[in-house]
Amino acid sequence: MDLVLSRYRGLEAKEVFNDLVDVYSVVYDVPPYIGDPFFSVESFASRLDGAMEMAGFETVTARVAGGLVGLLHGVTLPADRAWWQSMGDSRPADVVAAAEAGQVFWLRELMVLPSMTSRGIGKRLHDEAVSGRQEPWTVLTCIWDNEPARSAYPRWGYEVFGPRIKHAPESPDYDAMVRAPAQTG
Ligand SMILES: CC(C)(COP(=O)(O)OP(=O)(O)OC[C@H]1O[C@@H](n2cnc3c(N)ncnc32)[C@H](O)[C@@H]1OP(=O)(O)O)[C@@H](O)C(=O)NCCC(=O)NCCS
Repeated sequence: MDLVLSRYRGLEAKEVFNDLVDVYSVVYDVPPYIGDPFFSVESFASRLDGAMEMAGFETVTARVAGGLVGLLHGVTLPADRAWWQSMGDSRPADVVAAAEAGQVFWLRELMVLPSMTSRGIGKRLHDEAVSGRQEPWTVLTCIWDNEPARSAYPRWGYEVFGPRIKHAPESPDYDAMVRAPAQTG
């Protein structure tokens, strides 16, 4: 498989915006997401649009034969982000300090087309993104029963911290996870 990974920083990603939305619209067109407004294509597009304006925004894309088959995007974690603040003292003190210093990458979304999963593309996207970041720490949130992602992250160096959280009253419950510096793939 001839996989091409590409990085787009900040507003550079506008040029692939529609392609990113197209991938989302296929990946999330399955139960339990289908029909849930929280996971609608419009909600993703609006989230992505907002994320592109945030400090440290980056997306990494995966292409096979020129076609987009997967993507990851994230930002420098804003220390005042509501979900992060809501976790209070359950957050490890060293990660809180790192976030205050702009040293935490928030991996916001990772997805691969269902027709292309289980070939290592998700892991390649992850490793490419994280290895190229200036922030030594990475945090993410993952729906607690979302497999295979939820089980893969600990194998990729993540540890769960704190209680489960919601990103909105209507959202499912998420596990928060952190990957410490100097982890190797
Ligand atoms: C999660 C996702 C991105 C993984 O993409 P992928 O290209 O299949 O990823 P990989 O092939 O690198 O596999 C990732 C891990 O899951 C495991 N895995 C993949 N498919 C699996 C399956 N069907 N059953 C069990 N394990 C599986 C792999 O063994 C791998 O583990 P390892 O890296 O420890 O060896 C993809 O399933 C997806 O887009 N899911 C829907 C969106 C989503 O849930 N995103 C994550 C949000 S937190």
